[in-house]
Amino acid sequence: MIKKKIEDICNRQVEREGYSSSLYIAMASWAENNGYPGIALWLYSQAEEEKLHMLKFIKYINERGGKATIPAFKKPVAEYKSVENVFTEVLKHEEFVTDSINEIVGLTLEEKDFNTHNFLQWFVFEQVEEEASVRTIIDKIRLVGNNNMYQFDKDIFSLRTPAVNAQVNP
Ligand code: FEO
Repeated sequence: MIKKKIEDICNRQVEREGYSSSLYIAMASWAENNGYPGIALWLYSQAEEEKLHMLKFIKYINERGGKATIPAFKKPVAEYKSVENVFTEVLKHEEFVTDSINEIVGLTLEEKDFNTHNFLQWFVFEQVEEEASVRTIIDKIRLVGNNNMYQFDKDIFSLRTPAVNAQVNP
């Protein structure tokens, strides 16, 4: 049976993963409305990934005899200054999620909850991959320059994460 403290912090993560999904949908919609279909596809795919992360937490909490709670999500920002601005916000958000996962890992050690500790390892690795992939995208945007987004919008297809690849070529 999952301890209440662990259940609560995992439920907090349900909200954070779900909000990540909403945030990336809002960014994808901005990209679509501003003529960047490639970037929109990347962000929509990332939003799907985040939904799966939320579901992993929900199922885990319930499986351990806890009660997953489905929260309301705050409204994500809908307007962005540029593509670079979108991805620097993505990186900021992913760093926040990484800190959040690490905080849960720390609590599982304090509470000697090795099952949850083990469950979280997948997220620890996933965050490394997600942050790295967004940093690569930001580097490319800066290399290309903010005025050459037409080409970058096509090139982002070559920077897909394995998860995005799986959705484009199921
Ligand atoms: Fe599920 Fe990108 O954090």
